[in-house]
Amino acid sequence: MAISADHIRTLHKYEIDILQALERLMRNYEWVPLEVLVRAVGLAESEVTFRISRLMQKGMVRYNAVPYDGYSLVFMGYDALALRTLTKKGTIQALGCMIGVGKESVVYEGLGLGCVALKFHHVGQRSFQSVRLNREYKPEQTHSPWIFTSRQSAEREFLALKTLHPVVKVPLPVDQNRHIVVMEYIPGVNLNNARVEEPEEFLDEIIGEVRKAYHLGVIHADFSEFNIMVNERGCTLIDWPQWMETDHPNADTILRRDINNILTYFLRKYQLSYDIEDTMRCVTS
Ligand SMILES: Nc1ncnc2c1ncn2[C@@H]1O[C@H](COP(=O)(O)OP(=O)(O)OP(=O)(O)O)[C@@H](O)[C@H]1O
Ligand SMILES: [Mg+2]
Repeated sequence: MAISADHIRTLHKYEIDILQALERLMRNYEWVPLEVLVRAVGLAESEVTFRISRLMQKGMVRYNAVPYDGYSLVFMGYDALALRTLTKKGTIQALGCMIGVGKESVVYEGLGLGCVALKFHHVGQRSFQSVRLNREYKPEQTHSPWIFTSRQSAEREFLALKTLHPVVKVPLPVDQNRHIVVMEYIPGVNLNNARVEEPEEFLDEIIGEVRKAYHLGVIHADFSEFNIMVNERGCTLIDWPQWMETDHPNADTILRRDINNILTYFLRKYQLSYDIEDTMRCVTS
């Protein structure tokens, strides 16, 4: 089930109080016991159980009976809290269609000051072990690492966009709350779905952007044709949560992998042959 604006509009004040209390309490509990929740929200137990059942119907809260009766927030509940905050701040007015879905994120179109993209970072709820190793998360002492890792992933991506924009062609960063990054919507298609007219010029443009990012201290670290958008204005580099500082001990290896990915793609699709060492020198010099 995907989140929708209606989901949030129809939330009762008590339901929001319960979601917020669960968010806080999940630092200490994987499953929050009913009596702890009742105490935290200061409502009658019958009211809390009624509201919780509604939140469970909406897919925002989960119940667990073993080893004790407890409740936990799930991504849809966390999505609702973040969207509500972004709406109250005036960052967004409406949530549109889903435009992308990846292993660890969902991207929606939205309306803010112009057309925006909302990237929901959903990292680690299914399997915390699957969090990529090159994302250097050090979860704080918490029983719910997915809340922490998802928020941190969004913070990392937002920081990269703020560091790079407007020198490097990346989406304009608009706002971030919890695990959601709001950024400029980039029209166009992903490079893997495009056929570019002047491949050599285009590859040079991409390498130029990688170079500018490098000189601002940033390596993408998940660079490929899937993370480049193409439109009549040229390329835009997206998907930055796993970026790495250029002074990281593995920086050289990761940059080489990024460059190799894109050179391999242009060789395969457009028979363009660039030397990796020359390109590395071009980016780092
Ligand atoms: N600012 C944007 N404007 C338009 N479309 C976007 C924007 N950001 C992302 N998208 C679309 O959503 C898709 C997924 O976004 P992104 O690449 O950032 O995350 P991801 O690949 O899901 O991340 P992960 O690496 O966690 O799997 C993109 O391939 C692109 O089609
Ligand atoms: Mg991507």
